Amino acid sequence: MKALKGFKDIIPGEVETWQFIEQTARSIFHRFTFSEIKVPVLEKTKLFTRSIGETTDIVEKEMYTFPDRNGSSLTMRPEGTAPVLRAYIENGLHAVKPVQKLYTIGPMFRHERPQKGRLRQFHQMSVEVLGEDNPLLDAEVMAMAWQIMKELGLTASLEINSLGCKECRPDFNRALLDFLDKANGLCDDCVRRRETNPLRVLDCKSSNCQEQYVQAPSILDFLCGGCDEHFKAVKNGLDMLSVPYKVNSFMVRGLDYYTRTTFELVTSDLGAQSAVGAGGRYDGLVKQLGGPDVPGIGFAMGVERLALLLDQLGKGVHSNGIDLFIAALGPEAQKKAFVLMNVLRGKGLSVSMDLMDRSLKNQMKQAGKAEASYVLIVGEQELANGEAVLRNMETHDQHQIAIKEAVKMWHEDLATFFATETTK
Ligand code: HAM
Repeated sequence: MKALKGFKDIIPGEVETWQFIEQTARSIFHRFTFSEIKVPVLEKTKLFTRSIGETTDIVEKEMYTFPDRNGSSLTMRPEGTAPVLRAYIENGLHAVKPVQKLYTIGPMFRHERPQKGRLRQFHQMSVEVLGEDNPLLDAEVMAMAWQIMKELGLTASLEINSLGCKECRPDFNRALLDFLDKANGLCDDCVRRRETNPLRVLDCKSSNCQEQYVQAPSILDFLCGGCDEHFKAVKNGLDMLSVPYKVNSFMVRGLDYYTRTTFELVTSDLGAQSAVGAGGRYDGLVKQLGGPDVPGIGFAMGVERLALLLDQLGKGVHSNGIDLFIAALGPEAQKKAFVLMNVLRGKGLSVSMDLMDRSLKNQMKQAGKAEASYVLIVGEQELANGEAVLRNMETHDQHQIAIKEAVKMWHEDLATFFATETTK
């Protein structure tokens, strides 16, 4: 049996990079005062069709949708925004705090063609801020995404755009339709999109279409006064925070709910899948889903893509290491070590040992593989005197120590113990 196409196991040796990514992000979310929210992976289909948009690729072609046993239509979440907004409304979170800053981490599902950095089950770290429309917030949210990249040791470029609002977008749509009327030999997809969702043509991958779209009108020339002011203030906010960005007026997003600010963190190191993170403002969406009329903004980063980038740069983490490996020689030593291991684990150390009577050489190898900071060698001879040899695996220093003493000291601090012993 094999896992489904586009579904992947994350095994030991890989999972440590994921933990590093998640821990880094969680620490930053905390510093930016976000709270975690956990939401189900399965929702009513109409939550997604209503929010992401009936004519988007996600809703038209990519959702894992199936009838429940009672016949109602369910969908495995293809993204995190709609479920978090549903939870915000359902739990009355707007009444708890006027501004809610939420994040969620977990799997999403899209039936796309799998390739490097593109899976059918993938993982997002997704954030939403609800209840605040100050453009400085847009800058703050992008600065947070930027900080995650920085602390992971990764670089990407931040591209930003404004998609206007329901006042000014129709003017742009008309201009775009006029332009498309004059374009030649558009691909079938674009001909269809022209009718259903004209903005989406700008995202077409066909080179013939793209060559023509260079001449397409820019949405930024059609922004109404309010949207124009907002976008200027967003850019100003990014300048204030020294977050570098590039305006890309052709950036449109694959989800229909966006208004005003949109952004993507793009890299050229992932082949065709250039976005490691993306998001934007979606004022009006909470109301559309049956909640209060509050503005919102958020983004999501793809964990698989971040992990790929780290691995490509040799910055992946493949082991978390352990504090201590106890190498026991002989049956009596093994029994003593077995009990000691349990005591030390109870005191907070990560400890391992071999239970297969292997040679000292072999056990030292195991300690190396486990990336143990220290090895305690317990031989029958030493044991008779209540002693053992403690070895620092980094410096290779070793000391004869009383087991009783050591048990007390390790709890305090193995490193301090070593420091004082070596300076003696
Ligand atoms: P999205 O652009 O569809 O936005 O996805 C965000 C990120 O998820 C992408 O930049 C990428 O890193 C990752 N991603 C998307 N699809 C895949 C896939 N098939 N395989 C691997 N990684 C993938 C959203 O989902 C919005 N909900 C973001 C948002 C939150 N906007 C406002 N709040």
